[in-house]
Amino acid sequence: MKRFEKHIFICENRREKDHPRGSCAEKGSEELRQVFKKKIKSLNLQITVRANAAGCLDACEFGPTVVVYPEQIWYGNVSVNDVDEIIESHILNNKPVERLLINDTKYNKDDQ
Ligand code: FES
Repeated sequence: MKRFEKHIFICENRREKDHPRGSCAEKGSEELRQVFKKKIKSLNLQITVRANAAGCLDACEFGPTVVVYPEQIWYGNVSVNDVDEIIESHILNNKPVERLLINDTKYNKDDQ
């Protein structure tokens, strides 16, 4: 068995407040990762699912940005209120949360 079946990367990059690109940490991604971690632990999924901090994922305009591997599904504007749905739909049932997909083929393909 592989160590992790799902890997959730949450951008925690922080730029100075008036930086033109903004940053995910400034939009709440640090708290977001903590909520992911708590949810994973509460469901006893920590053996197979990991929520890791990432540096800039180069999708700053969509932040807070989250990408889930191995599917390479990119989510944008993710808030703490979206964590339960991502875990229950995508992580547990392999159904990506359509409403949160970054709508750009640079990140998500048309057929996702
Ligand atoms: S700052 Fe989060 S994707 Fe760049």
